[in-house]
Amino acid sequence: MNGWLAIAGLGPGAPELVTPEVTATLAQATDLIGYAPYVARVPERAGLTRHGSDNREELDRASLALRLAADGKRVVIVSAGDPGVFAMAAAVFEAVDSGDPAWRDLDIRVLPGISAMFAAAARIGAPLGHDFCAINLSDNLKPWELIERRLRLAAQADFVIALYNPLSKARPWQLGHALNLLREELPETVPVVFASAVSDAREAIEIVTLGDAVAERADMRTLVLIGSSRTKLIARGNGRPFVYTPRSAGVLS
Ligand SMILES: C[S@@+](CC[C@H](N)C(=O)[O-])C[C@H]1O[C@@H](n2cnc3c(N)ncnc32)[C@H](O)[C@@H]1O
Repeated sequence: MNGWLAIAGLGPGAPELVTPEVTATLAQATDLIGYAPYVARVPERAGLTRHGSDNREELDRASLALRLAADGKRVVIVSAGDPGVFAMAAAVFEAVDSGDPAWRDLDIRVLPGISAMFAAAARIGAPLGHDFCAINLSDNLKPWELIERRLRLAAQADFVIALYNPLSKARPWQLGHALNLLREELPETVPVVFASAVSDAREAIEIVTLGDAVAERADMRTLVLIGSSRTKLIARGNGRPFVYTPRSAGVLS
């Protein structure tokens, strides 16, 4: 039997935002691997062995997936959102790069999903309509000084910035520091969007200015979008403005 490994994105949370390709691949799998809350999002069925694990065990998870696929299993390893965005796809390729040379010839596929920044942006309008970047605020795998440098340069370049992993119990101060740094570089009027649990029953979206943004508003399931100097609001009767960034900047007429 030929084994394979699919690295699949489950999207931001709502079942209707899982792609048909991911659903069809999950239906063929013998083994399901991932962070336990993500594995729990896939319905149980006969013939599917579930391997839920703790957070921060990405490389162990990747090695297990590769070993099972090499043994002939049909393995799906799941991430939230898109598997290539701060998630399991890079961990799998790190394991392939440094692991058993036979893993290089395995059938490995990456199945895209809807990343949190796209789901959050779609809820409020088109904040990513012009140039943007995504920064992971976690300093588990990189030094905080590097994050500060990237934030400062991104703000100076006037990118819209999507901040992933803004806060956790183990990382309580990082988002506050990031907001203070951004206030040194950007106008206080720049829109900031706190988009939490997007597409879940607990979804909550708040639009404030950079001057009023407080870190305590975020939790582990919040995507924070920092507008550029050109990001605009369109006021509406329901009190919930559209947020968008015009497609053009600095165009000479
Ligand atoms: C380890 S990263 C994984 C990102 C994921 N691969 C993606 O493409 O969305 C986890 C972070 O994604 C963001 N996130 C994931 N799901 C979310 C959701 N439904 N609503 C808002 N943010 C979400 C949060 O910033 C969270 O801390």
